[in-house]
Amino acid sequence: MTHRAAVVGAGHTRFGVLDAGPRSLVRAAVSAAFASVDRGADAQDVREAYLATLGFGGHQIGNSSAALAEEAGLVGVPVTRVENACASGGFAVRSAVGALAAGASPLVLVVGMEKMTDVTNARRRFWLGVSGDTEWERLAGLTFAGVYGLIASRYFAEHGDASEALAAVAEKNHENGALNPNAHFQKKVSRDEVRSAPRVARPLGLYDCCPVSDGAAALLLCPAEIAHRYTDTPVFIDGVGAGTDFLAVQERTDLTRFRATQHAAHEAFRSARWNRSEVSFLEVHDCFTIAELLALEDLGFAGPGEAAALTLSGATRRDGRLPVNPDGGLKAKGHPIGATGVSQVFEVFLQLRRQAGARQVAGAEHALTHNVGGAGATAAVSLFSAG
Ligand code: COA
Repeated sequence: MTHRAAVVGAGHTRFGVLDAGPRSLVRAAVSAAFASVDRGADAQDVREAYLATLGFGGHQIGNSSAALAEEAGLVGVPVTRVENACASGGFAVRSAVGALAAGASPLVLVVGMEKMTDVTNARRRFWLGVSGDTEWERLAGLTFAGVYGLIASRYFAEHGDASEALAAVAEKNHENGALNPNAHFQKKVSRDEVRSAPRVARPLGLYDCCPVSDGAAALLLCPAEIAHRYTDTPVFIDGVGAGTDFLAVQERTDLTRFRATQHAAHEAFRSARWNRSEVSFLEVHDCFTIAELLALEDLGFAGPGEAAALTLSGATRRDGRLPVNPDGGLKAKGHPIGATGVSQVFEVFLQLRRQAGARQVAGAEHALTHNVGGAGATAAVSLFSAG
């Protein structure tokens, strides 16, 4: 896809264990997105909308688009639900760019939402498991932490013990999350705390995992040509890409490379017509710390096995040469499944408009978002530039 879109508004709720239900979360994120548009916008301008959500815990598992239409004041407007597990948000953004290219104007709304914490831990495991392979993985008792634990073990076998780099990812992302008022966890952790935390699925421990969170985020997109009708500082979407892989990791030829990410990145850079050396910072899908290393390699910012050294060099810290997850990532900001890909773009919107406060990345001009579904079976990548 080559059509250029612009983000002119973005809203976000707090992520974490919240009292609010799904409808209140959607309402809060959408009204914050409208309120953020400098020259104003309202529901009448919206011609198309997308809702990214898994339906965790069975929340409105069918036809939830109508609930979004009600809460956003959009009854009558076509709304499409996008469900690609944890990558739902990234795919919804890509669909919105496609809708604009097809003539939906002036505005398209994208909302990501998940309500996860109002079910018991046992039920959480069930609802997390629905996005993995059922026959061979889930029925055998494998959780997502378990799959990523296997991937991490394989990575260590191929490239050597990377546990220090995994601890550095957790330490960095918690440090960034401590500066994000929307983050689930706003506290620093030391590498020693990461290393001595209880193991969840070896070699991964508690601080190698993202938490289970509630939350929502919303974006208002328009064609690039009319962005200045809404704001002097739009954020342009220069390229989008997406890909898929086998659902079960056992079907894949390689455990430590996510082909869906590689394909999505290739497409996104091809459509944006700028290259990796121009990227100022990345928002990558660190559902588990090992996933941040894989992302750096699959997106083409490090060679196979080289992301650990890159991380330990400090390059991916907020003040490094390639900051990764300045908002705290899934690890500290939290991971309300459908909301995550939309939330990544919210961070890009703040950063490229120099509105990210204490966690502002100096000189941010170009950014990449990377959103993965399950254990790499779906992935979406988008590229942005400051207006
Ligand atoms: N990182 C840091 N702290 C965490 C945490 C995490 N990922 N998850 C929970 N905690 C903290 C809680 O805040 C709580 O702290 P408190 O005692 O100070 O209040 C404590 O650990 C226990 O919380 P609880 O919810 O009972 O933990 P749990 O053992 O049930 O769950 C995990 C921990 C890691 C298993 C759970 O967070 C998990 O399943 N994460 C992965 C989610 C996932 O797979 N998402 C999809 C990705 S593909």
